[in-house]
Amino acid sequence: MNNKSETYRKASEYWASIPATLDGVLGGFGYISDIDIDGSKLFLKALQSLSNPPDTHTALDCGAGIGRISKLLLLPNFDTVDVVEPDEKFIENLKIYVGDLTTKLGSVYKCCLQDFNPDKKYDVIWNQWVLGHLIECDLVSYLIRCKNALTENGIIVIKENVASSGRIEKDDTDSSVTRPLKQFLQIFKKAKLKRIKQCKQTNFPEGIYPVYMFALVPMDKEVIPADEEIQKIETINSCAR
Ligand SMILES: C[S@@+](CC[C@H](N)C(=O)[O-])C[C@H]1O[C@@H](n2cnc3c(N)ncnc32)[C@H](O)[C@@H]1O
Repeated sequence: MNNKSETYRKASEYWASIPATLDGVLGGFGYISDIDIDGSKLFLKALQSLSNPPDTHTALDCGAGIGRISKLLLLPNFDTVDVVEPDEKFIENLKIYVGDLTTKLGSVYKCCLQDFNPDKKYDVIWNQWVLGHLIECDLVSYLIRCKNALTENGIIVIKENVASSGRIEKDDTDSSVTRPLKQFLQIFKKAKLKRIKQCKQTNFPEGIYPVYMFALVPMDKEVIPADEEIQKIETINSCAR
């Protein structure tokens, strides 16, 4: 077995051993879920306030776990939400966790993102706390497929831990990596995606990784008011502004 298969195998074994609960999918930090979702709501609202906002027909929740983001963020804001999640137990619990909003749930794909090829129908593709599981070349290819799956004003959102050490930090427990900001930017460039908004999540407890949200569109896409947003990118550090 090569290194790449070994990395993916170890990750899937790790998640198979984790209970299908909020604490489980958030590595013991279930109590930060509400704060996280509040930050995401503000970010999504800002995207929906653009002059050419994404539609609200269909969103995709990637590495969905038990459907935390679908339930609390995407299903209330989109007509339909599809999910991708490789772990069988999480999928089995997803409909129970999502509850009443299950009626708006669309396709549930049991698949790893490195193998997933989304249909071209998504207004927002939300990736949170999952991309550290993809090795770099797979991540670039996956983001290119996501880019090709966007509707007219569609946006890819990435919300991930960012290493402030400036280097890639490995986690042998779940077989993931935490990337520094500069590596995220290189990956976006390779996938020919540009940032139109970036925020650092606020109000998280001390001692955990900084968490950033990035809104990405195809490099050649004109987004109004793109220039103004890009100028703000390096200075924005609060989603509440
Ligand atoms: C930290 S949990 C986050 C779940 C969800 N995004 C949330 O924020 O509540 C990571 C999730 O990614 C899934 N995952 C791990 N490796 C993956 C891969 N290669 N492709 C897709 N999902 C993966 C796990 O099964 C788990 O559900």
